[in-house]
Amino acid sequence: MVLGHQKAARLRRIGGGGARGPSKSLDRRQTASLTLLSRALLPSKKMQVMQTDLISAELRNRFEHARRVLVLTGAGVSAESGVPTFRGGGNTAVWKGMPFDVISSARMVERDLPAVWEWFDYRRSLLQSLQPNPAHYELARWADLFSEFTLVTQNVDGLHQAAGSREVIELHGSVWRARCVGCRTSYEIVPHERRLDNCHGCGAWLRPDVVLFGEMLPPGAFEVAAEAAASCQLCFVVGTSALVYPAASIPEIAKAAGAYICEVNPERTPLSAICDEVLTGKAGEVLPLIGKS
Ligand code: OAD
Repeated sequence: MVLGHQKAARLRRIGGGGARGPSKSLDRRQTASLTLLSRALLPSKKMQVMQTDLISAELRNRFEHARRVLVLTGAGVSAESGVPTFRGGGNTAVWKGMPFDVISSARMVERDLPAVWEWFDYRRSLLQSLQPNPAHYELARWADLFSEFTLVTQNVDGLHQAAGSREVIELHGSVWRARCVGCRTSYEIVPHERRLDNCHGCGAWLRPDVVLFGEMLPPGAFEVAAEAAASCQLCFVVGTSALVYPAASIPEIAKAAGAYICEVNPERTPLSAICDEVLTGKAGEVLPLIGKS
């Protein structure tokens, strides 16, 4: 029982590293704490990756007949709304000279909570004026097309919900919530309003209700996503560099269970090699084409 609990806890810790491949990545998922997949493990330019500019007849057919569909999104799905990505285009986000994975780490909360708030307050201030883009709206529409549709996001921006998506699995939390470091009570943060500093209940500090590097995912979130991945027929991986685990293991679980995997991204990722189709382009342009009959 204790062992099982510990294993479940490890499964929810975000991280990466190790060699790629369905079975090995599951090993990595079980052992890693928060590190990133080494750049050296990215697929080489010579690697065979099927690319297509158009939506294939195969994908259209599968989209039309699938009953269980899962979509995993990352920062790229919000890029056309104006939300900066963390990686991609050869860049890595930096905040006041600090790499984002340092300022977004569990250690920083212990060391300098005001600095962590400053980073998330800044990100929320950017989001206040931004709107969902065609990719968010298209995914919201997809929910009504299939008998089981699971939308899993690594994003903390709330734009899927703003576009009308319901029951979004937020693997990494939300910048629109704060959480008590003592009793874990969660507080909504309202746009344009001052957020609270302390918990009304116990008086302890509040922190952003997001998953930081080295921390566990929200209880149950990964497990529900993994279960849906294991039974879906069609899986889309949209706008993620697929470097952060365990989120990146979700398409691998779907692949291992026999689902058809389709990636939408302007750049190749470590997942491209296991995808059945790689649609090279922007989510806001490509996703509406897939859903068009
Ligand atoms: P990244 O910033 O790592 O990757 C963004 C991906 O989006 C890249 O692969 C880009 O090529 C792609 N991209 C850019 N523009 C796009 C567009 N218009 N349409 C589709 N794709 C586009 O973001 P994530 O993979 O989401 O975690 O990062 C994973 C996690 O790392 C984040 O959730 C965050 C970060 O640390 C936490 O904050 C806990």
